[in-house]
Amino acid sequence: MSSSAEAPLRVALLGCGVVGASVARLLVENRDDLTARIGRPLDIVGIAIRRLGRDRSDVPVDPALFTTDADELVTRADIVIEVIGGIEPTRDLILRAMEHGASVVSANKALLAEDGPTLYAAAHEAGVDLYYEAAVAGAIPILRPIRESLAGDRITKVMGIVNGTTNFVLDKMDSTGAGFAETVEVAQSLGYAEADPTADVEGFDAAAKAAILASLAFHTRVSSSQVHREGIAEVTAADIAAAAEMGSVVKLLAICERVNSPAGEAVSVRVHPAMIPRTHPLGGVRDAFNAVFVESEAAGQLMFYGRGAGGDPTASAILGDLVAVARHRVEGGRGAGESAYADLPVLPMGAALTRYHISLDVADRPGVLAAVASAFAERGVSIETVRQQVVPRERDGRAESGANLVVVTHRAPEAALADTVDALGTIDTVREVVSVMRVEGD
Ligand code: HSE
Repeated sequence: MSSSAEAPLRVALLGCGVVGASVARLLVENRDDLTARIGRPLDIVGIAIRRLGRDRSDVPVDPALFTTDADELVTRADIVIEVIGGIEPTRDLILRAMEHGASVVSANKALLAEDGPTLYAAAHEAGVDLYYEAAVAGAIPILRPIRESLAGDRITKVMGIVNGTTNFVLDKMDSTGAGFAETVEVAQSLGYAEADPTADVEGFDAAAKAAILASLAFHTRVSSSQVHREGIAEVTAADIAAAAEMGSVVKLLAICERVNSPAGEAVSVRVHPAMIPRTHPLGGVRDAFNAVFVESEAAGQLMFYGRGAGGDPTASAILGDLVAVARHRVEGGRGAGESAYADLPVLPMGAALTRYHISLDVADRPGVLAAVASAFAERGVSIETVRQQVVPRERDGRAESGANLVVVTHRAPEAALADTVDALGTIDTVREVVSVMRVEGD
């Protein structure tokens, strides 16, 4: 650590992609304001990159600061900003930085969600800070509000749109009526989706963020492997149309919920597509924006909205963390460490309480509705609404009367709902289970 009260704090930057370049530029451009806010200047002492030789003229720093020796760089910094991503060698670099007395600001959701406790333990051991606001929902201040502003309250639910790529795709499917595959291609051509969109589309990115949100909200360790994850690749134009008929939209939701299970209090953490009313605060989140809806006992409902990705928006969150940890260096003290005292069990998906919207193509004959209703009743699933519309059609060249039957359930254990859908598929008068989608936001 620097010794003199006026000496600059030494900042090392690990990674100089889109986000790292924004961080470096804003550090330079806002230097005077940051110095005034912190009480000491911040000096970039090095920027670790994988290869030298690339044109870095967009980063307004002395080119001599670029280095490929990240191992060495982290040993001569007061604060290390990590925007490399990935698990290794990043974890080793962060641990090494902490061992050498540096506080760490990271945007690494995958690492925090996989092995946050190791990083927290190392930070505690070294007496340094670990901040990672940018790891979830980019520019949106959400981790600090949960970790600090709501620390005196009791959070019951956190439900977020935390992946911009999938929100862009689902929003476009909703506005154009197009299918999933062609909409992903559009998103790729516009730069909203990666060439390999797997991490976003399959929900891995959102699941890591859900694990982080749940850990903080419920004072319980939750890793990404404990998050039930379903992506949006199976969402069809029919699902989107079915939602629209209900006045709803389909969103990929990260849901972290405190629940009373038969065995006591527990948490449910899951990522999956779900219908949500257009009038719900999350229902109006368009394009690639992110939003997180929080419910707590005393505060009630809170909504956080903004840009979840991009260089400058993500850098904003990183610089906020940087100022916080730098102030601790100047004034003493540390930010909150890990809080996992509640240690609540994480429920398996089958025990989660959800609601289903089920659209069926059925024969229009006496007893069909009764057979369908029985499938629900036998599994203890209570029906909230039923809507039937007769649809004349042709089958094997003959006119035939069929019906579209839409059932929306009350909340029930996921396992009972899934079992009900399986049973519906075996009823001979049910010609097709057209769409099954969970429902959120009553
Ligand atoms: N790929 C993410 C998204 C941004 O589409 O929102 C980084 O977490």
